[in-house]
Amino acid sequence: MKFPASPGPIGVFDSGYGGLTILKEIRKSLPQYDYLYLGDNARAPYGTRSFDVVYQFTRQAVESLFARGCHLVILACNTASAKALRSIQQKDLPSWDISRRVLGVIIPTVEALGSISKNGNIGVLGTPGTISSGTYDIEIAKFFPQFRTVSVACPMWVPLVENREYDSPGADYFVEKYVEELFSEEPETDTVVLGCTHYPLLIDKIRRQVGERAAVVTQGELVAASLADYLKRHPEIDSVCTKGGTCEFMTTENPDKFTELAEIFLNIPLRADHVDL
Ligand code: DGL
Repeated sequence: MKFPASPGPIGVFDSGYGGLTILKEIRKSLPQYDYLYLGDNARAPYGTRSFDVVYQFTRQAVESLFARGCHLVILACNTASAKALRSIQQKDLPSWDISRRVLGVIIPTVEALGSISKNGNIGVLGTPGTISSGTYDIEIAKFFPQFRTVSVACPMWVPLVENREYDSPGADYFVEKYVEELFSEEPETDTVVLGCTHYPLLIDKIRRQVGERAAVVTQGELVAASLADYLKRHPEIDSVCTKGGTCEFMTTENPDKFTELAEIFLNIPLRADHVDL
């Protein structure tokens, strides 16, 4: 075995800051576990990168989290879940260590739609990579064959977040642009899925633009509930996740830069370490 065998924290990975929206909710419902967050901010955004590049970057990140003692890693990134999860599960885990686990954020989100949508018209907003992968359309059709899905890529939203422009008037323009693109394609949409973990940072603007037309679904609580259920059903994984209530952060960018926004967002003082992948 090439990774430490002793129990370790739960790894949470994203291309940048977006995974913090997932981590925040996971820590709320499962505060007893230790967490190790990794943001590949230096190489974000992933959303416009090719399939193979997203796979290679995500693979490096997962390997790095395993090498730091994680037995379970959550890909808190839709782009990585859409483009890399399956390959890592099928190709890499068997050669690395078959007992380790990697989970994504798309299935827990899709599973919840059945109890949210009333008319079955789902709108998915995501990165160009997530949308062009067709993963949401495929998974929604599998779980709810009677539903109709319209997907719109929002290439400017992640850069707005990574560049801290999510509160700026410029962000309003791009929020209106993509939300209206969705409703012009399907005016009957009653459920809008924010299929990117960065998008909750734009939630106020998105909710205002969507208005009464549809419910806006974010992923944090859904992923947290699904993880809690997973750990209950898999005591062999739960037993190798340490429970000290700590949370550590790593970034491929400058740690001070990462900390500034992460602290505002999580509302806790934190320290981040630099890591090279
Ligand atoms: N948070 C990632 C996601 O959920 C953003 C991807 C990106 O870096 O473009 O898709």
